[in-house]
Amino acid sequence: MRHNGDRGTQRTGDQVPRFGHGSRVPGWDDAADLTKDPATVPDLATTEVPPELRAEIEAHMAKYPDHRSAAIPALAAVQRWHGWCSPAAIEQAAAVMRLTPGYLVSVASFYDMLETTPVGRHAVYVCTNISCSLCGADELLEAVERATDGDPDFNVRSFECLGACDIAPMASVDGVYIGPITLDEVPRLVEHIREGLPPLPAKQLRLRRSVDPGAATATPGGATPQGPTSYGGEMPGDAAGPPAAIENPPTQPDQT
Ligand code: FES
Repeated sequence: MRHNGDRGTQRTGDQVPRFGHGSRVPGWDDAADLTKDPATVPDLATTEVPPELRAEIEAHMAKYPDHRSAAIPALAAVQRWHGWCSPAAIEQAAAVMRLTPGYLVSVASFYDMLETTPVGRHAVYVCTNISCSLCGADELLEAVERATDGDPDFNVRSFECLGACDIAPMASVDGVYIGPITLDEVPRLVEHIREGLPPLPAKQLRLRRSVDPGAATATPGGATPQGPTSYGGEMPGDAAGPPAAIENPPTQPDQT
């Protein structure tokens, strides 16, 4: 299982802060319990699963030829329902998917955004990878940790590159990319999150103007959140991009 939020050693001098296991990021260091009996598939007839949750998981399963391919969206669904992938949540997903809980735990413990321990409902992922780190990400992470210290509503952690290096140092707040974030903006960022407001709208990546004059732009007015993870909902100006090459049908060779 992963560590969540435990920063292990502290930064000293020019040393980079690391977890107890030596990495800058949470890792997997709990061995499997080999003394336990082999896992069995929970019986759906005797496992209580909220009907809406069951319907959502079954809808995901129906999208794939092999229903195990729905493991990640099913785990995301139980996480939304329960707040984390608790043993009861895993049991419910396993019963609906006709899999062992162990199968789903192996998936949940691999992916960073699936939580296998209880966490706060607001996910603040501060990128501490190289570009952000060079722009002060470690100080930013420490400032966010200080500003939210002891608040059980927050799940603050460092994260590997979130793919938005051009706005370093940046953070993903409930799925919304924000950056570059200066240290003096941290109290306002935390205040916005606490009050359910769009966090630092002027720094949200999705609200930035495109260099393409023909591209539609979103407006901060459309960013009013409906819940802790809805800052990233569909924007009025959103438009589908061009299809990727893989989405185009293959061209047939000319038979003439
Ligand atoms: S290094 Fe932070 S987004 Fe890439």
